[in-house]
Amino acid sequence: MTNMASKATSAGEPQYPLPPRTIDARFYLDEEQYKREMEHVFLKSWFPACSSKELAKPRDFVVWDRLQQSIVIVRLDDGSIGAWHNVCQHRGARLVEKSGHCRYGKFKCPWHGFAYDLEGKCTTVPLRESFDEKELAGLRTPPVRAFEWNGLIWVTLSDATPPLKEFLGVLCLPLPVLSEHHLQLLSDPPADVERMADLADQDRTVRLGPCRPRSRRDDRRRMG
Ligand code: FES
Repeated sequence: MTNMASKATSAGEPQYPLPPRTIDARFYLDEEQYKREMEHVFLKSWFPACSSKELAKPRDFVVWDRLQQSIVIVRLDDGSIGAWHNVCQHRGARLVEKSGHCRYGKFKCPWHGFAYDLEGKCTTVPLRESFDEKELAGLRTPPVRAFEWNGLIWVTLSDATPPLKEFLGVLCLPLPVLSEHHLQLLSDPPADVERMADLADQDRTVRLGPCRPRSRRDDRRRMG
């Protein structure tokens, strides 16, 4: 029988499927490798940020703190999805603390009262006359691309990344229905490599996101 795994093309390229192999541990621990992955992979990819169920009703929102960013993902009144950086445009404060339901359709900054609508547009500026009106024109939180597909809300931080289905390419097949456990992992993945490995051992689930490199403090905590 032909062993496809070990065959090579005439150009020396390996034939798929490749044999199983482990990744060198240094890829999980190296800070520079982490930065390279952030820059070249994660900040240019689509991510399944949460399940559609978490945004079941208009005005439900999720605060997604990943990739060293904080993003608010909202179910708009017309049923579509909006997403924007969780940053007040006055002095850069974190605008929304945690996920929930925005009953009145306004997010008010806890610092000086600038308020934003569900799409992240600034609608209220206290003491407006004290600001230059030109600077307030069109003021809004920077938008983030979001797309709902297959029971998940996907986001990407890059404007240059192709649309989701083009990005996924041949992977863009209807995914199997995800269990509650998988959805929880997607929306609240473990913060470190070892926890991820534990979960992967349990049910072969692989985290869809970058792993924070292990720090000395992590090592001390495990030993203590
Ligand atoms: S920082 Fe948000 S209103 Fe001032």
